[in-house]
Amino acid sequence: MCGIFGMITKDDRPLGEVLLEAGRRLAYRGYDSIGCATLDGEGKTDLRKDVGRIDDVNARLHFPEMKGRRGMVQLRWATFGAPSPVNAQPHYDSDGDLVGAHNGNIVNQVALREAFLSEGMTVRGTNDGESCVHAVERYVDRGYAMPEAVRLATRDLQGDYAFVIAHVNDDVLYAVKQGSGLVAAITEDAAFVASDLPSILPLSRNMLRLEDGEMVVLRPGHAEVFKLSDGSRVDRQPQEVDISVKAAEKGGYPHFMLKEINEQPQVAAELLHWLDASPDVQPFIDEMAAARRLYLVGCGTSYHACLLGAAQLNRLAGIPAVADLAPHFRETLARTLGPEDVVIWVSQSGETKDVLSALKAARPSGVRNLAVFNVLGSSLMHAADRYLPLACGYEVSVPATKTYLNQALLFSYIADRLSATPGTTPWNRFPLLVENTITRCDARVRELADELVAIEDLYCLGYGVTYGVALEGALKLKEVTYAHCEGMLSSEFKHGPLSAVTNGYPVLFVTTPEDTRMIVSHVSEVSCRGGRTIAFGPADPLLQINVDSLIEVQDAGPAMTPLLTVLPLQLLSYHLSVTRGIDPDFPRNLSKTLTVD
Ligand code: AGP
Repeated sequence: MCGIFGMITKDDRPLGEVLLEAGRRLAYRGYDSIGCATLDGEGKTDLRKDVGRIDDVNARLHFPEMKGRRGMVQLRWATFGAPSPVNAQPHYDSDGDLVGAHNGNIVNQVALREAFLSEGMTVRGTNDGESCVHAVERYVDRGYAMPEAVRLATRDLQGDYAFVIAHVNDDVLYAVKQGSGLVAAITEDAAFVASDLPSILPLSRNMLRLEDGEMVVLRPGHAEVFKLSDGSRVDRQPQEVDISVKAAEKGGYPHFMLKEINEQPQVAAELLHWLDASPDVQPFIDEMAAARRLYLVGCGTSYHACLLGAAQLNRLAGIPAVADLAPHFRETLARTLGPEDVVIWVSQSGETKDVLSALKAARPSGVRNLAVFNVLGSSLMHAADRYLPLACGYEVSVPATKTYLNQALLFSYIADRLSATPGTTPWNRFPLLVENTITRCDARVRELADELVAIEDLYCLGYGVTYGVALEGALKLKEVTYAHCEGMLSSEFKHGPLSAVTNGYPVLFVTTPEDTRMIVSHVSEVSCRGGRTIAFGPADPLLQINVDSLIEVQDAGPAMTPLLTVLPLQLLSYHLSVTRGIDPDFPRNLSKTLTVD
């Protein structure tokens, strides 16, 4: 997830070291490139940026040499435009009068880029942050003063973002919050703005909270807030905050896993905006629809998203998509591929060796290789013929949560678009449904975690579209609790594992209304033998009288409900992990990216 930091002081001074340190504090968000810009009192600017780790880039570009009274640093996590020096931020406008950097996604950046070029501007890269700078340039060129130009520019930018920008000919720093995080802070002779608290905290604890739809105008010792809608002033006073840098990195949450679970409404909204607006989406869907055979392939959590995605494509769009584990695919179906077939390789990291090796094995068949991943610039991006990004930002915690949801969301959204009634699912409600589900389930799930704290062995079962969700719930539980939890198709349970059930033996069931009738039958097989049955899904009278406990999830229709059912399972895994004294962010023996066979 990108990070920005900007500052303004009374006089010219060595700002480079301060910017570098602020950049280091933003690094936990993840990045692939870094850049710093300074503006001095004489109107001179200095912009240095490159791809790589902060210390390596600094060794080449020497950020501490940079001087000025205004400065900014940006760490880029690529979502639009590959990681490259020209796409690294900050960016100049056409003639170098403006310098700015953003955080978030501008979803109409392709159309904007064409418009800027046709208006005669110099557009250097393909990064959407550059669009923020040219959007302001457009209004400066039309004669508007900076505050008004910044405000009007936001009307042309679609998406969730925040940006910071400065003009060489004034003594002010401007920043906008429109869907991405942004905080401001002041001291007696300086003012700061940043994507989040950690980069500012060592410099000031006098914080000014900003809301979406606001612009902050920074001068040394002052921060004034204005509404983007009409330019009116907002009366808001800074407040002292008392929080450590470490706690702030986790957004106030005790662990990254919980932070990332709670980021899901935001990342889902960002992905949906992008899926609606990006010109890359329709060609990807067209290739899927035209495939003779369509395979969704991944490992671990990504494979579980493939299972859910394939089920959604089968059920909603009537497309016979098949999900498989990458190494299994490599040894079996990969031997049967032809040029009319399409494989979608699904991965958070884009670096999983099992996935890359299977792709390599499939390539000689002439198959079309599409990809879905979170890390732009990854090996999978370079290996694929076409790709869609997950737009989740950096996922720190080893257990994947927000990337699973966006993988499952991406396929469900496409399945809905390919259905006989496209556009009937109200996807704009989805982020709020995710937020409400997390909020409403949490207390009940905590109680359940207390009840199950000593459990060392359990099953998590699903049927139909929730099969993949059950496997994902089971994986999350074993990954962060160290208990043995097996995921399975509920109908398979009677074919052997049922012998494990004794009095009080816990079995979790994941269900949606389509599968409830069958699930109830499988619940009964367990409960009549004294097993403890706990269901996750929408309320249903038949289900309610048959299970011992129901963690209720709202019924939001066949496209969205299966996506919501994973949320209480993520929360249960998290709370059980913490209750059992385990650090869920870094479970023993596991690594976030598996680059070995
Ligand atoms: C799940 O929580 C794990 N982190 C793991 O199963 C992961 O999904 C798997 O290793 C695949 O990784 P990828 O998505 O980066 O390819």
